[in-house]
Amino acid sequence: MAKNQTPGRPADPCTLVIFGASGDLTRRLLMPTLYHLAAGGMLADRFSVIGVARSELSDDELRRRAADGIDTFAGVDPKQATCAWLLDRLSYVAGAFDDAKTYRNLAAKIEACGKARGGSANVLFYLATPPAAFGPIIGHLGKAGLARHADGWRRVIIEKPFGTDLASAQALNASILAVFAEPQIYRIDHYLGKETVQNILALRFANGLFESLWNRDRIDHVQITVAETLTVGTRGKFYDGVGALRDMVPNHLFQLLSLVAMEPPARLDAESVRAEKAKLLRAVQLFTPESAMHEAVRGQYAAGAVEGKKIDAYRRAPDIAPGSATETYVALRLAIDNWRWAGVPFYLRTGKALGARCTEVAIKFKEAPFTLFRDTPVAQLAENFVVIRIQPDESIALQFNAKVPGPRLVLDGVRMDFNYRDYFDAVPTTGYETLIYDCMIGDNTLFQQAEEVEAAWRIVQAVLDDWREAPARDLALYPAGSEGPPEAEDMLARDGRQWRPILRQSA
Ligand code: BG6
Repeated sequence: MAKNQTPGRPADPCTLVIFGASGDLTRRLLMPTLYHLAAGGMLADRFSVIGVARSELSDDELRRRAADGIDTFAGVDPKQATCAWLLDRLSYVAGAFDDAKTYRNLAAKIEACGKARGGSANVLFYLATPPAAFGPIIGHLGKAGLARHADGWRRVIIEKPFGTDLASAQALNASILAVFAEPQIYRIDHYLGKETVQNILALRFANGLFESLWNRDRIDHVQITVAETLTVGTRGKFYDGVGALRDMVPNHLFQLLSLVAMEPPARLDAESVRAEKAKLLRAVQLFTPESAMHEAVRGQYAAGAVEGKKIDAYRRAPDIAPGSATETYVALRLAIDNWRWAGVPFYLRTGKALGARCTEVAIKFKEAPFTLFRDTPVAQLAENFVVIRIQPDESIALQFNAKVPGPRLVLDGVRMDFNYRDYFDAVPTTGYETLIYDCMIGDNTLFQQAEEVEAAWRIVQAVLDDWREAPARDLALYPAGSEGPPEAEDMLARDGRQWRPILRQSA
């Protein structure tokens, strides 16, 4: 049975101001997202977009770029009515982000757009720029008086990376909070736009079935995996100074961790949900130099082959220093100091150039109290897992033991599978639609709060400090196309456990 998405109300009328409008993110992601929202009737008629960037572009040139993005990434003919509706609402302001004149011109354009579209003073600022520009843009918006308005709301969306360590994230928070109040700030993490990620909340809190088992009495451990087949590609300049830990862990992996492990919020509103997520991250035990050595593994891919394609070593990729010690893989063992999770390890891993793409949260349940089948020809019972699959397919699977038909009592591991595509019509999305729409209706449940971001960096900081002490120590090489470094396997083996295979994901 297929169910369609429930149609929502159109968002508030507003002007979306995109800083970095001539960039790749705008063309590849934002324009197709706006198109999908428009096609779903989710944008108000009094909606407009102002692009801001340094390049001297005319309104028409911006429209051409947007049309190309929609054509390429949403597969829609720019002449189509909804696309034309959207393109008609685009305009452009050229200027440097650190020049006060840009903001005077922007203020005039915002007013003109508001008037032309019937007087809405609501403005959503989107910072689709390199992170170095975040601080200056916010400062100028404040000075130009654009961060507040008596007749409408003002909000700001900030892309990742949000800082490069704890100190820089705190400094960035302080500079934003000097201009915007917390409820006006939307720190985006695209993982929270993924349906299955949001579904973790529904799975846990809308079902009496799982929540009663969701604790240290029933759960043995949890594995969170974000395995990518992608290499560093052409992103060397950015990536070599960042590495897998900063790029993926304080944001994407910790979002999955906090949704899986947080306490039930009192209500399903932004304040309650975000407070619980922050509380969970604060309960994660901080690494000591000693524990970081054994419970944080870093690796870098060497030459190999991914899905049959030959891959050069990371150190030979464009813009990577030949002796680079930047990690492209990280695995962590986390302990959570609270009543629900004391003694339950959470193993997290992410890496580039691995053998298969797989993003999942796997919850391993404890074994049944005693083996009733001890005397039967059952060599080993299959493990009980609930697996929340996020990529490449979206599903939830339950793995358990069943009797194989026949005269002998033989058991085998079987799966019960729920696949999104079997139940719900697939609507084309970029994954950003919900997030942008939520900004326009003022719901920041799916965005990170200052406290959450800082709690996440605090955990990662201890590992960064340890690694800085000895840049190349313990950097494990793994062949591209493999499961990652054996050191990550050893980390679980010491606990008598093993990672779920990335390459063979039949269960
Ligand atoms: C980005 C990282 O935030 O997330 C990339 O900067 C990574 O390095 C990407 O490839 C992964 O996102 P997804 O949605 O493909 O899992």
